[in-house]
Amino acid sequence: MAADAPAPTPANTLRPEVMLAKPVFLESAFKEPERVLTLVRDSAPYRLAAAVHRSRESGTDVPWFRVFWAYGEKLADPRADFIFNNPRFIQAARESFGAEVVIPSSLMNNLNTPMAGGVPHLDLPHFRGAERFPFDLLVAMGYSGLFHPWAIPIASALSWFYRGPGGDFDYWPDGPDEPRFTLSAPLWNQAVVADNEYMFHRVGGVGRDSDHVAPGAISRAAKLHHEDGAWSLVDGDSRQSFSEEAVRLSVLWKAYAFKDGAALRVFRDRSDDLTLPQALSILSADLDQRGLGRLDVEAGYGDEANRRLIHKVYRAPEVRDASRRRVQ
Ligand SMILES: [Fe+2]
Repeated sequence: MAADAPAPTPANTLRPEVMLAKPVFLESAFKEPERVLTLVRDSAPYRLAAAVHRSRESGTDVPWFRVFWAYGEKLADPRADFIFNNPRFIQAARESFGAEVVIPSSLMNNLNTPMAGGVPHLDLPHFRGAERFPFDLLVAMGYSGLFHPWAIPIASALSWFYRGPGGDFDYWPDGPDEPRFTLSAPLWNQAVVADNEYMFHRVGGVGRDSDHVAPGAISRAAKLHHEDGAWSLVDGDSRQSFSEEAVRLSVLWKAYAFKDGAALRVFRDRSDDLTLPQALSILSADLDQRGLGRLDVEAGYGDEANRRLIHKVYRAPEVRDASRRRVQ
């Protein structure tokens, strides 16, 4: 397809252009929270999220540990079935998205030892046909706002177990130009189901500032073990111990949230899938229209000039951080 071809439009749009799904809070995320905590402990040792995702080495790794208990609509650990199919999450996703069809898609557990806060971001978006697109291209596509028609509506349930200092969940339910909201610890067996691929959010600093493990102070090989009722950050010869209270746990569940069976069929039959050249053509047409240049679509995403231009233009916007409204 030529670089200046008009952007094709799919016949079926599965989600609206703007975020319509509103956060739904659960004061009690799990019927048996102790069972969740047992699985969290039993799933140790954990690898860094950066290692799990094979992110490019930048020398700035932070102590953010992760395991996938389910992905691709399938359980990777059968012990997590009661979380993956938690009826409370499914019901909240129905409510948040006005969805008749909710299909759990992935489940991960995150553990943070004391560390500085993250930046406001959107979660990695999902587009029909783009499952194998490079990770950083998907990020840019998400921030471009050009691919709504292919977006797969995904409900995210974030649930927490943390009673230590910091560890806020900040979010912008009305968009990045509007005030932020904050959920503060103690967060124990609570959850929010929201649209995290469209709603900006971030994790505030975990623990006291003086206890933060600085970015890059640990290596990619660092692991988090659970021993004798406490957590242990093991990195080569170094071993740092943290009480259970000091480690922030967050379980992230994601599910497809389709309006109805017809929307599910469009997703399953792949008749309107995006292709990589098509995605590059859409970005190129937008850049051209804005006088910012063009991509060499034929050269593909591997082309360094293409990548540079894409990532220069399509990035996370400034997020308004001045005002703050506490939810609890
Ligand atoms: Fe996120």
